[in-house]
Amino acid sequence: MSVKKIAVLTSGGDAPGMNAAIRAVVRTCAYHNIGVVGVYRGYQGMIEGDFKEMNARSVRDIINRGGTILKSARSKDFRTPEGRKVAYENLKAAGVDSLVVIGGDGSFTGALLFNQEYGFPVIGIPGTIDNDIYGTDFTLGYDTALNTVIEAIDKIRDTASSHNRLFFIEVMGRDAGHIALNSGIGAGAEEILIPEENIGLKKLLSSLEKSRSTGKTSSLVVVAEGDKIGKNVFELKEYVEQHHPDYDVRVSVLGHMQRGGSPSCFDRVLASRMGVKAVESLLEGKSNYMVGIRSTKMELTPLEKAIKGSSKINTELLRVAEIMAT
Ligand code: F6P
Repeated sequence: MSVKKIAVLTSGGDAPGMNAAIRAVVRTCAYHNIGVVGVYRGYQGMIEGDFKEMNARSVRDIINRGGTILKSARSKDFRTPEGRKVAYENLKAAGVDSLVVIGGDGSFTGALLFNQEYGFPVIGIPGTIDNDIYGTDFTLGYDTALNTVIEAIDKIRDTASSHNRLFFIEVMGRDAGHIALNSGIGAGAEEILIPEENIGLKKLLSSLEKSRSTGKTSSLVVVAEGDKIGKNVFELKEYVEQHHPDYDVRVSVLGHMQRGGSPSCFDRVLASRMGVKAVESLLEGKSNYMVGIRSTKMELTPLEKAIKGSSKINTELLRVAEIMAT
């Protein structure tokens, strides 16, 4: 089958660099003289026929912008066979024959199902700040989010140090500790709590006590949102205060600010490379793959593997974090 028109959409949680990826998909289509439409609000827009014909000029001035010009959504309707059927009919009516999905594993699950039901060629681009997708060393938005987080933690450090306080700082990462671990090392945290490794409350206390005894007057503990220690950041604060009434403890939940902002140069370049690779893979007749970067090279991973596999924490980083907290 020769590719004539590609649809591109962003789905799931947005991430800085999604616009740069949309731009790359659109410009690569223009370069190869094939049509391209943008689909608004992810799969929901596919069901509602919310499409926009695009050309190289439609994506001017967006490489530097956070968020996604196509908007994003988590569509419930696309989880139903009826919803997917309507989506398929809309794509066909618009003359679209191939799809590029920019999103996380939930979005890829929908893409794979759509392909299995309708044989629709699809390629995924991993876009999520969590960096929790198998088959790529880095997801789009992760590098920017890390820089946003360390900028925020540096500021918290100033006030923590002025008041001799202990801060629990919650960062995003529902199932993965990549943001917490890397930003924790980058910002010089005392302890880093991640879902992949439950250090336990006792060790947390003893580590804080040790820091005090070695002359530290303030401490930063970075906690991944999905940490399995069994307590959220506010309960952690209470727990420490119960055991150490002399500690002055505060909590800061960084939240959705981590998903915004202008993408870093790394994310812009990565998005551009992924967009080119996605479109050219479709032109080569490939389908059901996710593009990724592995050891600086662009690679394809079957979507099924990307969905089922898990991204592993680098244990060397755990050791570095521990040594740095000495
Ligand atoms: O998957 C990305 C992510 O930012 C997670 O880290 C976070 O748990 C989730 O999205 C938040 O989702 P929502 O924007 O729907 O609240």
